[in-house]
Amino acid sequence: MKVLVINGPNLNMLGIREPGIYGAETYKDLLEYIRSYCENDGTDVSFYQSNHEGDLVDKIQEALGVYDGIVINPGAYTHTSIAILDALKSVSIPAVEVHISDVDSREEFRQISYIRAACISTVMGKGFAGYTEAIRILKEYRKTK
Ligand code: DQA
Repeated sequence: MKVLVINGPNLNMLGIREPGIYGAETYKDLLEYIRSYCENDGTDVSFYQSNHEGDLVDKIQEALGVYDGIVINPGAYTHTSIAILDALKSVSIPAVEVHISDVDSREEFRQISYIRAACISTVMGKGFAGYTEAIRILKEYRKTK
């Protein structure tokens, strides 16, 4: 199974940004964590991070016919981006929304997700483990198709 892990704005700042919320580990640590899980699991994984909404839309469009699943942490665009929602709907690739923090227990504006309507599931508040949980969900979903 080919999975694309997309991270949106400021996730490249993991380890530096608000460590009390997002932890002390870096974006590089995150990629190593996911890569090692996928090696054991036999999942073919690729990564993409951008701080720009249009680049995220481009990457989702380019995933069509290439990836079997998308894991996406859209960062702050979660709470604003109809363009990312539409891109996910356009390609119809099964997608799981991930948040490192528990967005539902934070500010009210973080409790709104424009992306969720295009995702088969959402994982939040589980730190880095949320990404591997999302890959597990995609694999299970695939078996039902
Ligand atoms: C986040 C939560 C968002 O509200 C925030 O803007 C982020 C990270 C998370 O992973 O918990 O950038 O998506």
